[in-house]
Parts: sequence; structure tokens; C-alpha cells
Amino acid sequence: MTVVLQSSKMPDGIEIKVRNRQFNLEKQLEEDWLDGDAFKTAFFNSMSMSFPIGEKSFIDSVRAYSDEINDPKLKKEMSGFFGQEGMHRREHQKYNELLCAKRGYDLEKLESGWAKRVSQLNKRGTKLMVLGGTVAAEHFTAILAEKLLQGWLLGNVAPEMRKMWLWHASEELEHKSVAFDVYQSVGGSYKMRKFMLRLFTLHFLMDILASTFSMLRQNKQLWKWNTLKSGLKFIFGKGGLVRELWPQYKSFYKKDFHPWNHDNRELLESYLAAETVA
Ligand SMILES: [Fe+2]
Ligand SMILES: [Fe+2]
Repeated sequence: MTVVLQSSKMPDGIEIKVRNRQFNLEKQLEEDWLDGDAFKTAFFNSMSMSFPIGEKSFIDSVRAYSDEINDPKLKKEMSGFFGQEGMHRREHQKYNELLCAKRGYDLEKLESGWAKRVSQLNKRGTKLMVLGGTVAAEHFTAILAEKLLQGWLLGNVAPEMRKMWLWHASEELEHKSVAFDVYQSVGGSYKMRKFMLRLFTLHFLMDILASTFSMLRQNKQLWKWNTLKSGLKFIFGKGGLVRELWPQYKSFYKKDFHPWNHDNRELLESYLAAETVA
């Protein structure tokens, strides 16, 4: 007799739903769409550039454990996770191609940095470490998603662009515990997950900044006082990235951490209800 282990710790009332959305960002991607600010726009565009390759790696690392999971609830969540990340990849690939065509960036060069990082991890890390990397990345996307859904940063952005980022953000919240629950049920350790978040944070920030600088250089915006000032404020200032994300970021280092210990179902529900009406 097979013993079915209840490995999903996702609370009731959430459905990981695959929404096949398409966005027309033709006009917005020509310009500094985030508050007319060159640095913030390049930073978000760089994040977009990381998604198609990054999210493929997330899917692969979780799928690699499909045969070891026998909880039907978690299995269903995994298939929702694959579907959502697949849609995100498709829309961000379109975004990235259009962005490079409009602003003269070298798509191949920008993508190759991310591809190299993923292949290094797969070459040097174990299968479980790669999954740990996904768990770490999913923590980062979930805490960023919460902030965006709370109205951080995107308040003045053109509706179609805001819709795109919030669609992605809401689904990151919905599936935030899937990789974590798989990692826990296949014996991933506390020590390794802490190590992988440290590693992810270091590499992700280094790579995002490198890509941001490369885009700014291409647009002759890099060596400008306003760009530097805005970049420092965006990263370290009041209301900026580090200060806004830090409280939730550090919760991951607690031994009893679970993504749903921080219950933001209400935020998700109110976003989804408003989105259905719109
Ligand atoms: Fe995603
Ligand atoms: Fe995700």
C-alpha cells in the first residue's frame, strides 16, 4: 500500500489558475515607461530579461521531482505552477524582443548572461541545490509581487503595462509555496535553502545591475547625475527596494519559515476581484 503524504502546505481558498493573457506594450516599451525614469525603467526591463530563461529553469527544477511527489494536492499545484510560469515566459519573451527592437539593445547578449548563470548552477550544483535556487528565487518574486500589488512603484504607469506586471505578480503570490513544498518533501535542508538565498541574492543583484548599466549605457543615460541619484534612491532610499523588501526578505532565514506564514490571501483576493470587474 502506498502511503500518500500530505506535502502541500498551501492554505485553502487559493486556486493556481493559468490565465492566458496577452498584452500590447508596443508604445510603452519605446520610452522610459516607469515614471519617465531611466534607471527604474532599465531595472524593470532587466528583470523582464531574466524571466524567460529563469522561469524555464524554475519549471525544470520542480518537474525533475515530479515522480517523487505523490500528494495529489501538491501535484495539482505543480501543474498550475508549470502553466503559470510557462505563460509568464511567453509574455516576457515577447516583451524582451519588442524592447530590444525598439531601444536598440542586443537581445542575444542580454539573454546570454542569464543562460550562462543557469548553466553554471546546473553544472556545479546538485539537483537539490538547483531546486533550492528556485525556492530562493520564488521567495524574491513573491515578496516583490506583494509590494507591487500593494501599489508600490507602478501607480503612474500606463494601464496596459501595469496590468502586465500585476498579472504576473498576482500569479507569483498564488504559486509562492509550490517549489518550497516540493523542496521540503524531497528532503531539502534548512542550511541549503539559506545558502541558496544568499547565493541567489548576490548573483541576481549583480546580474540585474550589469544588465541595467548596459541598457543605460546604450541609451547614453549611464553617466548622468540624475540617473545615478535616482538609482541610489531607488535601491537604498526611503520607499526603495532594500527598505521595502527587507522585512519579508529576512523572514526566509527563520527555521520555521513557510511562504504562507505571511498570509496575503486578502490582498490577492481583492486584486483578483477588481481585475474581474475591470
Ligand atoms: Fe513567473
Ligand atoms: Fe514564480
